[in-house]
Amino acid sequence: MSELLKKIQQVLQVISQKTTKKYEIGIILGTGLGGLVKDIEVEFTFDYSELPHFPLSTVESHVGKMILGSIAGKNVVVLQGRFHYYEGYTMQQITFPVRVMKFLGVKYLLVSNACGGMNPIYKRGDLMIINDHINLLGDNPLIGKNEDELGPRFPDMSEPYSEELIQIAEKVALENKLKVQKGVYVAVPGPNLETKAEYRFLRTIGADVVGMSTVPENIVANHMGIKVLGISIVTDECFPDLLKPVSVEEVIEAANLAEPKMTKIFHEVIKEL
Ligand code: HPA
Repeated sequence: MSELLKKIQQVLQVISQKTTKKYEIGIILGTGLGGLVKDIEVEFTFDYSELPHFPLSTVESHVGKMILGSIAGKNVVVLQGRFHYYEGYTMQQITFPVRVMKFLGVKYLLVSNACGGMNPIYKRGDLMIINDHINLLGDNPLIGKNEDELGPRFPDMSEPYSEELIQIAEKVALENKLKVQKGVYVAVPGPNLETKAEYRFLRTIGADVVGMSTVPENIVANHMGIKVLGISIVTDECFPDLLKPVSVEEVIEAANLAEPKMTKIFHEVIKEL
């Protein structure tokens, strides 16, 4: 057995002491989705420190938890605390929890994030359903020997975000009178925000928003045949000719304002699955 499969088995051994149920829906609580925690009927919670090979946050205040339970009667496995490439983790570390999710039964992966809006019709606080992405991280979680048991060497990426899930998300947004944009997310390593020239470049190559997460998890999910839904919160407007300095406080404020809308859409999507 390969090293990666052995590591996955070691985590499953810990989890199987508590539950052997299947969990079809995986959720990564990125920015703007913290409120969804309140909707979970919790069965078991694991600190990442209890799960072998899970990345550990160096920031003490940072939550790292796997929650197993249900939302709207559907079994869910929820990751509270995500890891970014700019923190110094490898792509394999960032995506290891998604590998484990597959073995817990996950068929649908729902993720959220914060981003800068470059499409001029987008406004701070808007939600955007991701319908495609561009990987400018300069790295890829699939580099190295392929695990044929997990997925193909050259995974197809013609539909990285599931059309089926996008349609459900658009339907529930409309039913709940919530405005959503739909567009392309470009992932950059960060951690600095972009220069005016970089925003101009990123817009020119076809991106609507820019952020520093989600793409590694998406690639690994696609490798294993998991369908992905991603929704971004536009936390700052990145129009190169009007660019103003952005503070972290403003980013967090915009994310908090959009959070109820995001949580509502995810809750309703889960009901429909
Ligand atoms: N750039 C990159 N990532 C971001 C931004 C941005 O402007 N805003 C929020 N996340």
